[in-house]
Amino acid sequence: MQFSTKALPIDKTRTGCVILPVVAGGKLGPAGKAIDSAAGKRLAAALATGDLASKAGSTLLVHLEGPIARALLVATGDKPVLDERTYAQVVRGAFRSLRGQGGKDAIVLLHEVQVEGQDLGWKIRSAALAAREAAYRFDGFKSKPEAAPTGPRSIAFAVDKADQAVARAAASDATAIANGMDLTRDLGNTPPNVCTPAHLAQAARDLGREFDLKVQVLGEKQMAALKMNALLAVAKGSAQPPHLITLEYRGGSARQAPVALVGKGITFDTGGISLKPAGEMDEMKWDMMGAASVLGTIRAVAEMKLPINVVGVIATAENMPGGQATRPGDIVTSMSGQTIEVLNTDAEGRLVLCDALTYAARFKPGAVIDIATLTGACVVALGKHHSGLFSRGDALADELLAAGRAMADTCWRMPLDDEYQELLKSPFADVANIGGRYGGAITAACFLARFTKDYDWAHLDIAGTAWHSGANKGSTGRPVPLLTGFLMNRARG
Ligand code: BES
Ligand code: MN
Ligand code: ZN
Repeated sequence: MQFSTKALPIDKTRTGCVILPVVAGGKLGPAGKAIDSAAGKRLAAALATGDLASKAGSTLLVHLEGPIARALLVATGDKPVLDERTYAQVVRGAFRSLRGQGGKDAIVLLHEVQVEGQDLGWKIRSAALAAREAAYRFDGFKSKPEAAPTGPRSIAFAVDKADQAVARAAASDATAIANGMDLTRDLGNTPPNVCTPAHLAQAARDLGREFDLKVQVLGEKQMAALKMNALLAVAKGSAQPPHLITLEYRGGSARQAPVALVGKGITFDTGGISLKPAGEMDEMKWDMMGAASVLGTIRAVAEMKLPINVVGVIATAENMPGGQATRPGDIVTSMSGQTIEVLNTDAEGRLVLCDALTYAARFKPGAVIDIATLTGACVVALGKHHSGLFSRGDALADELLAAGRAMADTCWRMPLDDEYQELLKSPFADVANIGGRYGGAITAACFLARFTKDYDWAHLDIAGTAWHSGANKGSTGRPVPLLTGFLMNRARG
């Protein structure tokens, strides 16, 4: 998909479709009015029929004669100034409705509407991301490509001459973020017999080659030498060897401490000996979305050439039952020296992460964010809208909350008090790997907190947000926008 900009006015420009906002229940914006005058008031007539629902994101396609073949009218709700979430609904609604209709190219004018606290660049970036989201396909495993309906291939943002540079920069940021999200989504959707730990390692090497990153892939022997016994314990039942992958993007000065992104990369989670029930177990192929979002975020940051240092640390393994598998009751010594009683082999994410978090300290990070499809309990607590955010530090938490809102990829802060640590007590080891029935997302985060004492740290539980279930199942690409937005704010101020 190509993005470009066009200088206003555009009523004489040849195009398949113009995408126009309809504000506060029925009013066209300035460009819409000009187009309507040139088109014999066809748009006003279409609006007068009442066929455009008032809900933000509702659409009505109107065919025109002349250089502009069609106009897509998009309702923006009943308020003249939109909030960020409503604008996201508007742009998503617009590009979803253009799948299979609307021609090969489009000119966007949705940024005519005002969004509280956001500028033109933000509006254009949001629209471009929505366009790419609607265009995403994953059909490489079909024997014959399906004739899936596509939307416009080439999209222009019409702005005043003075705003061309801002618009171009916003579209180019969006392209980088969407390329990162597509990488994340593709890795997640790839079936677990293909997307193994070795496959993730190769994806990291490929990314390293394309963007000139330092990439290191540790194997079992090297991890054993580092005493990463918690990570290794998870992989023992599987025929697939585990890996600890690191990637270094150095866009900032050599003196600047990097942000470390630490991803859970369980390429399939059967639960191990604590076997999961069969229903929907296929969804556990997405248990590597933390790892995939680390790769996608680094891809986005590298394509944008952000002036910041970012290190990715990925702990990847497959969690299988088997004769060699870790048993409930086994005690392992983690890289940090803390011993862990494995009471449930299905609480494996925290086992691979604790060693990755200990390893991350060697990069002397300014902040560490781990990303994991960690607990079903987080989905129970927050549903599938917000990712769970846990952090001791208010400043880091606030940065992530704000980035999530601005990127329409939100998280919600959860508690992390020491009171909950009681639940992880083990009579035999320093800590147990589960905390009982209550507060499961919190006790999982508390477990990780024990391994992150030496740096500023936040944990994102993306179990509810990384993929859609049901008929439209597939990865979402979240939280790549949140993480990239956070890093953009840190890099550009
Ligand atoms: N990968 C799962 C978490 C998960 C479950 C994500 C369902 C999305 C949907 C994780 O490894 C897991 O199995 N967690 C257990 C922890 C429990 C044994 C304490 C869970 O959530 O049930
Ligand atoms: Mn599990
Ligand atoms: Zn898991």
